[in-house]
Amino acid sequence: MSRLNEANTILAKEIIARYPKARSATIPLLHLSQQQNGYVTEEAMAHVAELVGATPAEVQGTATFYEMFKFRPVGKYLVNICGTMSCQLMGSEALLHHAEEVLGVKPGGTTADGMFTLEHAECQAACTEAPNMQVNYRHCHRMTNEAFDQLIADLREGKRDADIPAHGTLARIRQQIPAEKAVGPVSPDDPARPVWTPAPEVK
Ligand code: FES
Repeated sequence: MSRLNEANTILAKEIIARYPKARSATIPLLHLSQQQNGYVTEEAMAHVAELVGATPAEVQGTATFYEMFKFRPVGKYLVNICGTMSCQLMGSEALLHHAEEVLGVKPGGTTADGMFTLEHAECQAACTEAPNMQVNYRHCHRMTNEAFDQLIADLREGKRDADIPAHGTLARIRQQIPAEKAVGPVSPDDPARPVWTPAPEVK
């Protein structure tokens, strides 16, 4: 399934209603499509474009700017090993080689069982905790080969489901906007003030 399904289309409209202009919801809707399909498909980007009143090219241009959006299937867990200076000095290259051996894939590759995609990453803003890596963007500090092996084993056994959900999972508790507080979509060309913005007092 590539376009947003029925339930997610309803949710997408609810999300759009939180913004004064529909196209401001582009990124949240891309995340929604990634949660649904595991990655962002061309059909989903075209659907998002329809929903927010943009062209598919505009949505694609936005989506491809961000590293967290994937455009091909990836594993349940994205393993990103930092290779920037602090982590490199603290052994991240050896850790990456170890990960390649353990997982049997090179950076960019996905294990045959679809569990892990290995990626080489740039600085993850945890330089004091080098060597750092992330699994589905959750930090794993001061990694060693042993800690890596234990982490992979725990993920395979589902022992980390509580703190490391599958790739693409959005917030588990979604904020609900009561109908009376939803602003409703506003065309980008509509100069009307969003309903929640109070009009300036005229004195
Ligand atoms: S250099 Fe690795 S987190 Fe900054």
